[in-house]
Amino acid sequence: MAKDTVILTGDRPTGRLHIGHYVGSLRRRVELQNAGDFKKMFVFIADAQALTDNIDNPEKVRQNVIEVALDYLACGLDPEKITIFIQSQIPELCELSFYFMDLVTVSRLQRNPTVKTEIGMRGFESSIPVGFFTYPISQAADITAFRATTVPAGEDQKPMLEQATEIVRRFNHIYGDTLVEPNILLPQNAVCCRLPGTDGKAKMSKSLGNCIYLSDTAKDVEKKVKSMYTDPTHLRVEDPGHIEGNTVFTYLDAFSKPEHFAAYWPEYQNLDEVKAHYQRGGLGDMKVKKFLNKILQEELEPIRQRRAEFEKDIPAVYEMLKKGCEEARAVAAETLSDVRRAMKINYFDDAELIAEQAKKFASK
Ligand code: TRP
Repeated sequence: MAKDTVILTGDRPTGRLHIGHYVGSLRRRVELQNAGDFKKMFVFIADAQALTDNIDNPEKVRQNVIEVALDYLACGLDPEKITIFIQSQIPELCELSFYFMDLVTVSRLQRNPTVKTEIGMRGFESSIPVGFFTYPISQAADITAFRATTVPAGEDQKPMLEQATEIVRRFNHIYGDTLVEPNILLPQNAVCCRLPGTDGKAKMSKSLGNCIYLSDTAKDVEKKVKSMYTDPTHLRVEDPGHIEGNTVFTYLDAFSKPEHFAAYWPEYQNLDEVKAHYQRGGLGDMKVKKFLNKILQEELEPIRQRRAEFEKDIPAVYEMLKKGCEEARAVAAETLSDVRRAMKINYFDDAELIAEQAKKFASK
C-alpha cells in the first residue's frame, strides 16, 4: 500500500452481513482503514446492483441498506476515516455506465464467469434482465468513478475486476489516459475466501438458512454452533474423525488464534494438536464446538455491543450515510468531468470548440 492508494469496495444489501463476509472481507477492511496507508478509502452499499435481481422487491433492499450500514459501523468501519455511501445516490455512476456500455460486447458479458454462474443460480436462463446482465459494466463504473487502485474482494469478484480493467484500457486507448486500472486485493488465506455454511454447504446463504450473522445474539450463535455439520462418520467419541470438510474445523482455521488455547482450552497448545487428537479418535464433537463457540463469542461480542449503540440513534446513521454520499458524489463528479472532456462531450466548457465552430460557419 502507498499514499496514492485508493481503496474501494462494496456489498449488496440483500441481507444482514454474516461471519463469512467478516472473515472474507470486513475484518480486512477495518485493518486497512486503521493502518491508514491510503489516500482515500470508500465502502459502499450497492443498492442499485441489489435491485438488478430484486426489482420486484424494493422493500427488501431498502430494509437491508440500514442493516448493512449498522454492520459496517459495528465492525469498526469509521466514517471519520473513510467514506461510506449508497450507490444509488451517485447519479454519475449511471452516466459512466452508459458510456462504458459502448466499450463492451454482448458476447464478452456472456463469457463473464460470475455472470454465467449467477444467471444459473437465479434461474434467469431465458429471461435475463438487461440490468442484471450488464452489472459488470456498472460495477466497473463504481470502481473507476472513484479512481480506485485497490479493490478488496473475494475470488468470485476476479472476473468483475478483469472486466473493469479491460474497460479502462479500452477507454484510455480511445480517449486518452483518463481512468485508473484497479487491482483486486484477495483475502490473505484460503479459508477466508469462502467460509462454508453451518450445514457444511459450500457457501453461507440466507436462503439456505446456514448463516451466522454478525447481529445474531449470543444464544443464537451458540445454538448454531452446537448444531453445526461435522464429520458424519465420527459416530462415537473414540472413532477416528475427519478434518477435511468438517465445518467446525474450517471455522477454527478461520477464527482461532494461538492465545485462544491458553485462554479456553489449555489442554492443547494449538489447533494442530486438537486436529491430531480428533483424527486419532477420542475427542468428541461437542468439546470442539464449545471451544469454537467461545472464540466466536469473543470475536462477536464487541461487534454486537457496538451495533446496539448505533441502533439507539438511527437518524444519526442516515445522516452519516448522507454525508458520505455527498463526499463520494464530489469525487465522482470530478472524474465524470474528465470523462466528458476526454469523450468530447463537454460542449459548454469548451470555449475553443465554440470559437472554432463560429469561425467555420462565418466563413461559409
Ligand atoms: N458485486 C459485489 C458483491 O456481490 C458488490 C459490488 C458492487 C462491488 N460494486 C462493487 C464490490 C465494486 C467491489 C467493488 O459483493
